[in-house]
Amino acid sequence: MRSANNNYEKSIVVDGLTKKFGVFTAVNNISFDVQRGEIFGFLGPNGSGKSTTIRMLCGILEPSGGQASVLGLDVATQSEEIKRRIGYMSQKFSLYDDLTVVENLDFYGGIYGLKDARLAGRKNFVLEMVGLKGRENELAANLSTGWKQRLALGCAIIHEPEMVFLDEPTGGVDPISRRNFWEMLYHMAEAGITLFVTTHYMDEAEHCHRLGFIFQGDMIALGTPDQLKKEHMTGAIIEVSIDASQEALRAITSASGVSEAYFYGATIHAKVDSATDGEKVGEHLYNSGFKDFSIQEVEPSLEDVFVGLIEHKR
Ligand SMILES: Nc1ncnc2c1ncn2[C@@H]1O[C@H](COP(=O)(O)OP(=O)(O)OP(=O)(O)O)[C@@H](O)[C@H]1O
Ligand SMILES: [Mg+2]
Repeated sequence: MRSANNNYEKSIVVDGLTKKFGVFTAVNNISFDVQRGEIFGFLGPNGSGKSTTIRMLCGILEPSGGQASVLGLDVATQSEEIKRRIGYMSQKFSLYDDLTVVENLDFYGGIYGLKDARLAGRKNFVLEMVGLKGRENELAANLSTGWKQRLALGCAIIHEPEMVFLDEPTGGVDPISRRNFWEMLYHMAEAGITLFVTTHYMDEAEHCHRLGFIFQGDMIALGTPDQLKKEHMTGAIIEVSIDASQEALRAITSASGVSEAYFYGATIHAKVDSATDGEKVGEHLYNSGFKDFSIQEVEPSLEDVFVGLIEHKR
């Protein structure tokens, strides 16, 4: 927290933010707050307006309407100061392939005006944090996706920002690397850095303090993972362990009391009116010729909540 302008209560305050591209509304009148030190997860299907929102909050894209402040600074009038004080890891993280690890850090440090002892100190800290100590002179091009992603995070935080925006930082990265990456995010949040993260991975969403869910430009749900499960789940979820074919899905969907059914890992999940409907689904499956299956009620997961929310909107 080096900056003079530290007198803000919330890291992000968004009120009626809107972005139109011509006649198309990509972000429609959304409002939410993010607390200091919070990990805020921003979820939604492809094309729902996540990156557009992030770009407005980072001061890169001008809003068409509404207001937003980041670190107490207005996105419409103080975008230059916002850019200096936040970190941004974009969806296609922009490393220079023909530069080495340390040259990439030098480059981003230079953009933020770091030099001499401060630059050296920050590089040292970042290399240590992202685990690239000893690999300083490797070309970025030769790093695997997981390591590139860590270097991109290092570049995004070289100037010690109070708040970092991460747009799908773990896309295309294996589960172990994703877990390691999230360990770093937790450490950052513990150190008081506010994180705004978009992801399509529900296990990552579970680990956010609060979540916003955007669909076709509208913010359709907002709250902690537990709140979302309580508020947006009516009825129960049953899990059908069965050879998960289209025929099985069709049979489950047509059972009475089932409002939706969808593939869930190697099983099928069905949203039912009440727990007792599990038995009816079982009978219906049996009468439809399926003999080898088992049914149990399960706690709704975030994925169940979001499938339900989207189905509801269609
Ligand atoms: N510069 C632009 N001009 C016109 N339309 C745009 C522009 N940028 C984004 N869009 C449209 O706005 C909508 C939202 O895009 P956005 O990139 O914000 O989605 P997203 O939620 O980040 O999706 P993804 O999960 O695929 O990254 C999309 O329909 C996209 O095509
Ligand atoms: Mg995006």
